[in-house]
Amino acid sequence: MEAVRSDALVFFGATGDLAHKKIFPALQAMLKRGNLNVPVIGVAKAGWKLDDLKNRAKDSLQQHGGLDPAAFDKLCGLLRYVDGDYNNPATFAALHKELGGAQRPAHYLAIPPVLFGTVVQNLAKSGCTSGARVIVEKPFGRDLKSAKELNRILHATFPEESIFRIDHYLGKTPVHNMMFFRFTNMYLQPFFDREHVESVQLTMAENFGVQGRGGFYDATGAVRDVMQNHLFQIIANLAMEAPARLDAESVRDEKVKVLKAIPAIGPADLVRGQFSGYLKEAGVAPGSTTETFGAMRLRIDSWRWQGVPFYLRAGKNLPVTCTEFVIRLRKPPTIFPDIPIYGNTLRFRISPDVGVGYGTNILEPGSEKQSQLAEIMASKHPDAKEMDAYERLLGDAMRGDATLFAREDYVEEAWRIVDPVLASPPTVQVYEPGTWGPAEAMKQFGPPGGWHASVVESK
Ligand code: BG6
Repeated sequence: MEAVRSDALVFFGATGDLAHKKIFPALQAMLKRGNLNVPVIGVAKAGWKLDDLKNRAKDSLQQHGGLDPAAFDKLCGLLRYVDGDYNNPATFAALHKELGGAQRPAHYLAIPPVLFGTVVQNLAKSGCTSGARVIVEKPFGRDLKSAKELNRILHATFPEESIFRIDHYLGKTPVHNMMFFRFTNMYLQPFFDREHVESVQLTMAENFGVQGRGGFYDATGAVRDVMQNHLFQIIANLAMEAPARLDAESVRDEKVKVLKAIPAIGPADLVRGQFSGYLKEAGVAPGSTTETFGAMRLRIDSWRWQGVPFYLRAGKNLPVTCTEFVIRLRKPPTIFPDIPIYGNTLRFRISPDVGVGYGTNILEPGSEKQSQLAEIMASKHPDAKEMDAYERLLGDAMRGDATLFAREDYVEEAWRIVDPVLASPPTVQVYEPGTWGPAEAMKQFGPPGGWHASVVESK
C-alpha cells in the first residue's frame, strides 16, 4: 500500500550551499515532471524576504543545470519563506502559520547536525510535527556515539518510518541499478563468491580539491565524508543477498546484514593521505591532519564472502574523476607454464559514465609467448532526462518510500566499523595532487595483484 504523500515541503537551510547546488534544481526538475504541487517553505536566518529567496532560486538554477522559465514560474508560485533564529519559538510559530492547513509536512534539515536537536524540539513544541516526516542530510553524526545521540533526538519526536536519512549515492541511478545488475544476470551467479573471487576493489576518485568547502571538509575528512556512507552503500549493494521482497524493509535488512558481517577495522587497515597544498585552503586549520585521501581494507565475514579482501579508496585531487569497482577472480590452473595468466576481472563503473567491463586472458597479437588481460568495456553516458539523485530522493521521501534511505541500524553499523580508526587515526601522509595518494604507503597497501588503473585514466 502506498503511503500518503506529504502535503508541504519545509526546508531548513534555505539560503545555504546545499539548497543552492542541489535542492532548487531538484525542485525545478520535480515540477517539470509534474511531481510537485504543494507549498515549499524555505526557512533560514538571513534577514531575507520571499523575493530574496526567489532570486536565490533563480541564481541557483542558472548556475546548476539551467533555468526553465515555465517551471521556475510554478516554483515561485509554491515558494514561501520564513526568516528567523532556530532558537526562537516565534520562527516556528511563523512556520506553523505558513503551513496553513497542511496535515503531513516533510521537514528537510539541510543544516549542520548540531542544530537538529533545537530544530526538531521547536518543531514539536510548535505543533508542526504531527503526521510529519523528517529528512536529514549526511554525514549522520561524526562517530557511533554522536549518531546514536542524533537517533535519540529524532526518535523523541519521529517514529523510524518517518525519518529519511539521505545518502545521495543511493539516489544515483547506477547505484540503484546495482541490485538489478546483480540479481538479473545469470552468468554472474556461479562466480560471485569466495570460491571464485580473489579480491574486490572500489575507487571513488575526484580530480578536484575541496572547492571552497575547507571549513566543512577539515572537520570531516575522507572517511566521514564519503567512505563510511557512499562507499559502504556501494559495498552493501555489491555484497548483499537477494531480498525476499522489494519492500523498503526487506531490502534494507539485507544491506544491514552485510555491514553486520564486517568487523571493525584497525589502524593497519587504513592509509590516510593529505594532498600537498591542502593546508593553504581557506577554512583549513593550521597544521591540520585531516585526510583528503583514504584507502581501507575490509573483511566481510559472511558465508559468501569470508576470506575475500575488500579494498576501498577515495580521495580529492587524484588523477581522474571516476567511481567504479573491480572484482578480480582467482587464477585458473594453467597448462601454459611459461605464459603469465591473470585473474579475470569484472569492472562496474558508476560514474562519470555507466559501464561494465570484462578482463580476459588472450595472447598478445602476433605472439605465442606473451599474454595480456584484454578488457572489453561497454559504457553508456547518463541520459540527460535521467533523474538526479536529489530529485529522486526528495520525491521518494515525500511519498514515504524509505528504500533508498539509511535506516537507524544501518548508520550505526557503518559507524561501528570505522569507529576505532576515527578515535585513533593512523598518521596522515602527504601526496602530490594528481597522483593516487601517498606513494610509499600505497606501494604496500592494496589487493593482491595491485590496484587496477581506471579506464578513464588510460583514455
Ligand atoms: C558529497 C561529498 O557527499 O559527495 C563531496 O561531501 C563529494 O565531498 C560528493 O565530492 C560527490 O558526489 P557526486 O554526486 O558529485 O559524485
